[in-house]
Order: sequence, then C-alpha cells, then structure tokens
Amino acid sequence: MLFMPMKLLLGLIMVVSKAAAAAAGTVATAACPNYFANATTVANRLQSEYFKLLTGQYTNGSLWTDANAVEDLHNIMLLSGSNTWSLLGDESFIGRNALLPITSWPLIIDGSNDDAQWIILALWKIADYQTAHGKSATSFLNAATTIYNIVAGQWDTASCGGGVWWSTEHTYKNAITNELFLLTSAQGYLRTKQQPYLDNANKVWAWLSTSGMRNAQGLWNDGLDFNTCQNNGQTTWTYNQGVIASGLGALYAVTGDKSLLDAAEVTLDATISQLTQNGVLKESCDNASGSTCDADQQIFKGIWTKHLQYYLGYANDPARTAKYAPFLAAQAKAVLTNALTAQNDVGSVWYAAGGDLYSPKSSTSGIQALVAGAQFGAC
Ligand SMILES: *[C@@H]1O[C@H](CO)[C@@H](O)[C@H](O)[C@H]1NC(C)=O
Ligand SMILES: *[C@@H]1O[C@H](CO)[C@@H](O)[C@H](O)[C@H]1NC(C)=O
Ligand SMILES: *[C@@H]1O[C@H](CO)[C@@H](O)[C@H](O)[C@H]1NC(C)=O
Repeated sequence: MLFMPMKLLLGLIMVVSKAAAAAAGTVATAACPNYFANATTVANRLQSEYFKLLTGQYTNGSLWTDANAVEDLHNIMLLSGSNTWSLLGDESFIGRNALLPITSWPLIIDGSNDDAQWIILALWKIADYQTAHGKSATSFLNAATTIYNIVAGQWDTASCGGGVWWSTEHTYKNAITNELFLLTSAQGYLRTKQQPYLDNANKVWAWLSTSGMRNAQGLWNDGLDFNTCQNNGQTTWTYNQGVIASGLGALYAVTGDKSLLDAAEVTLDATISQLTQNGVLKESCDNASGSTCDADQQIFKGIWTKHLQYYLGYANDPARTAKYAPFLAAQAKAVLTNALTAQNDVGSVWYAAGGDLYSPKSSTSGIQALVAGAQFGAC
C-alpha cells in the first residue's frame, strides 16, 4: 500500500466505491437530482406531521400504504445517498415487528394477500439499506421470507385454474395480488437464487397471461368474476398497470426473455394513452373540480410511477429509459406544479390544479412520482 503509485491507488478506491455503490443498489447519477430534494421536502413533512413514533404508523394511514411510504423513504436514501431517515426501518410498525423475537405475521396481515406483499417489498428495501450501511438485515429478510411463504400457500388451482387468492376468505382472484406475486417471486429469485421462487414466477405469469384480466385496450381490470372466471370489467386502476410491468421486468432480469418487456409495455403505453389527461396520470376518481377517490385510491398513481421506475431498472436498456423519461418527468413536474401545497403536502390530483384530497397516502404518492422522476425522468 505504502509504495503504491498515487494514480493506481486512486483508481483502486474508485473501483471499490463503485462496487460498493452497486452492491447497495445506489446509482452514481440521477436524471434530475432536484426531484430527490423535492421528494425529501415532502417526506420530511410526512414524517413530522403524520408519523407516530409510538406505533410506527402514519395518522390516517393503513398497513399497506404505510409499507409503501417506508419503502419510498428508503428508496430516496438508497438512490440519493442520504441518511435522513436512517432509523425509520427500525421504528416503522413493520420493521419493529420484524425485529421482535416472535411475531404473528398472519395476525398482522389479517388475511390480505395483497397487503402482505407490499410489506415484503418494504422489508426488502429496509434490508437493502441496512446492508448498505453494514448493519444486519437478517430479521427483515427472515420476516419477508415468512410472509412470502404465507402468500405462496394461498395459491389455488381448483378455482379458475390458478392464482393466489386476494384474501384468506377465498372469494376473489384479482390482478394486484397476482401481479405482486409475480414481482415478489421473480425478485425473490434474484435475491436468493432459490428455484421455488422462479417456479412461482413462471407459474403465476403463465396463469395471469391467459386469465383474461388484461382487456382489449391492454389495461388490467380489477379481477375475475368468481362464478364465470371471466374478466369482471371492474376499474382499470393505475397501480394495476404499473405492478405488472415491474413483475415482468424482474422476470426478464432472470430469464433474458425480451417478450416479457414487450408485454409490459403494451400496458404501460395503454396507461399513457388512456389513463391520462394533459399528459398526466388521472385516476378515474380524480377530478379537478372535486375528487371521489377513497384514501387507498389516492396512492395508486404514485405506485404506477414507482413500478415503472423499477421496470426501467430491471430492463436496464437506455432506449427503453429514453422512451419513458419524458412521461416520468411530466409526472414529477405536475406534482410540483398542480398538487404541492405551501405546507409541503401533496394533494391527490396531479393533472390539473384543484379538486385535491389530502392524506399521508396522497403525499406518499407524490413522493413516488418525484423519486421516479429523479432517477429516470429529466429536469
Ligand atoms: C425543488 O427542489 C429544487 C432544488 O432544491 C428547488 O430549487 C425547488 O424550489 C423545489 N421546488 C419546489 C416546488 O419546491
Ligand atoms: C384524518 O382523517 C380525518 C377524517 O377524514 C380528518 O378529519 C383528519 O383531519 C385527518 N387527520 C390528518 C392529520 O390528516
Ligand atoms: C368532474 O366532475 C364534474 C361533476 O362534478 C363532471 O361534470 C366532470 O365531467 C368531471 N370531470 C372529469 C375530468 O372527470
């Protein structure tokens, strides 16, 4: 070391730090770092106004949307290199339950196989952050595995030929639960290289792709009719159009099969052409003269942007990134222009000013758009 020429030493340090950055899932460059700053402003408001340290939950939040918020703040830290909420993983409701010696996850999940999987995604992101900072991630990873196995046990072939039930009541098979199962299975394989994850990913995509839930417009309706197993024609929520893309992207990252990316983009492009106004995402319940979205629906658009962000990460293809960058940039800009308040809350309507509903969920949604715009959009 002592006699190593300076140039070589510097080169070595750069190689090592790049490798460390890659291991931590961080990016050396972002398309628009300013949007990380804007996301941080909204996230700080979210934490100071809505986060309850006593319980690790958000005021007016819910299990699955809280999990998204926790995931998103870790995304900001991992991608921007900040440590603003370094204790959040330990303090959050799901994190502290992961850290307990004994936790009844079935009791917490309460039969919701979709909620369960948002928790898995958040626990994995906490684990990535802990690992990147030399801390043990074992508890978070073990909790994620436990929850994944509960969900995998909800696969059923007796009704409609396959699919994971939406809930343990076994009355509904829907898009989001199975899109999430594609993502958690493919990502689980990428993380562990254990074959059962990949088998599940292939199994659920084989089922989804023939389920009829993707309609003639290329959009995923909510689910299947219980009696006929036909597409039930219910709302094409934006988040359903995003999570399918990240799931297919993750499976592509495993298999290299580009037809999976083409399938994802049928739906991404249909979203952009059909679920927008003024070039900006519009949930069917959004309305600039008075919205009717319930609290959960206020987070859907941001989830679409986050899962497009994940999709582009998995696809890892400059041409595909370039294709969606202007749209992601437009979403981030719309959030700042049409939905951000003087208090740094983000309202639920992005496509125009007015009509907003406000909740920790609408703010989380805004954070997701800003983070996606920061990584892959443009200023
Ligand atoms: C977004 O962040 C940039 C960089 O910090 C800042 O200059 C700008 O004022 C922020 N925009 C809004 C609307 O807060
Ligand atoms: C929580 O929701 C209730 C009922 O909608 C509302 O009155 C209250 O202002 C909300 N609290 C916060 C902190 O947003
Ligand atoms: C918004 O709601 C009003 C009635 O409250 C309706 O006339 C209008 O068509 C709606 N606009 C959109 C974009 O949905």
